Amino acid sequence: MAGVFANTLRPAIMAAARRQGLRRAAERLPVTRRVVHRFVPGETIESVLNSVAALQESGRFVSVDYLGEDVSDADGADAAVQTYRELIERLGQSGDPAADGVRPLEVSVKLSALGQSLERDGEKIARENCWSICDAAQHAGVWVTVDAENHTTTDSTLSIVRDLRADFPWLGTVLQAYLRRTLGDCAEFAAAGARIRLCKGAYDEPASVAYPKQTEVTDSYLACLRVLMAGSGYPMAATHDPAIIDAIPALAHESGRRAGDFEYQMLYGIRDGEQRRLAAAGNHMRVYVPFGTQWYGYFMRRLAERPANLAFFLRALAERTH
Ligand code: FDA
Repeated sequence: MAGVFANTLRPAIMAAARRQGLRRAAERLPVTRRVVHRFVPGETIESVLNSVAALQESGRFVSVDYLGEDVSDADGADAAVQTYRELIERLGQSGDPAADGVRPLEVSVKLSALGQSLERDGEKIARENCWSICDAAQHAGVWVTVDAENHTTTDSTLSIVRDLRADFPWLGTVLQAYLRRTLGDCAEFAAAGARIRLCKGAYDEPASVAYPKQTEVTDSYLACLRVLMAGSGYPMAATHDPAIIDAIPALAHESGRRAGDFEYQMLYGIRDGEQRRLAAAGNHMRVYVPFGTQWYGYFMRRLAERPANLAFFLRALAERTH
């Protein structure tokens, strides 16, 4: 089943994720919205702040993502920046920085939502927009982490992050263990003392740039995490994989790190019990909480990760038609 899923269903779901017509149709369907609610708690800042408060109450940190990617004009990018600035201001009113310097509140941003893919001056526009978000975050005591998108954007994204870290050394970014280049990127950013969120990677990538087998991705993840733990930065292990989570305490210990010197991260709605267990055991546990109306791309990547999610989605659609 796993092979059929990886070879047939997964590419089909990822192809569907790229179809604008499907996206528009799905986002209009209330039934889809109800299903999506498992992964996306709300559409407005108000609703996501309620989820943030509940997560904080259970001892978890958060990273809030305003959904949207691949904006097609500068106005769309400006609108995303305004939403982020408002979100950051509201988040800043709701919490103090933790004593050990780790900020419990964070926002995650996709540079493609800030204009990176615009034909004219895309990289420059995204850099300026991200600077504006970081500036607001600096004042509010909120962290920012830049998400990783498909491999054609990696060089541009990392170059923007390097530039912005001169003004905002706490700025974090995501590295994807499925990319063959990532061990080298980890070495660079670990030596620079950066905050790095390591994930497996969620896009459909060719074997020329990414490891095709899950076992290779897991091996790469562990090798990358060992480098991050040994470096002078702050590693953020973003995964739900029990095999990796079980290996983390030993990797941290090897590098002399205590529980507060790194963090676990998971997505909203996935392995909630495990999130609570890790937080209750005294670890930093951060939950990535997406919100907004443009949930389609994010949701389709969650479907592509797990056959059971696809069944869950199709079941809900079938119930609707009966
Ligand atoms: P894996 O997919 O092997 O899953 C292990 C187990 O976790 C499964 O057996 C299941 O129990 C559970 N699980 C995993 N996914 C599930 C799902 N969708 N629904 C239900 N259960 C699920 N990617 C990227 O390319 N760029 C990015 O910026 C980010 N950012 C990011 C932030 C955070 C905080 C997390 C946790 C993840 C990301 N990702 C990401 C996504 C990441 O690349 C990856 O696709 C998912 O985390 C799934 O991979 P796992 O490591 O969880 O392992």
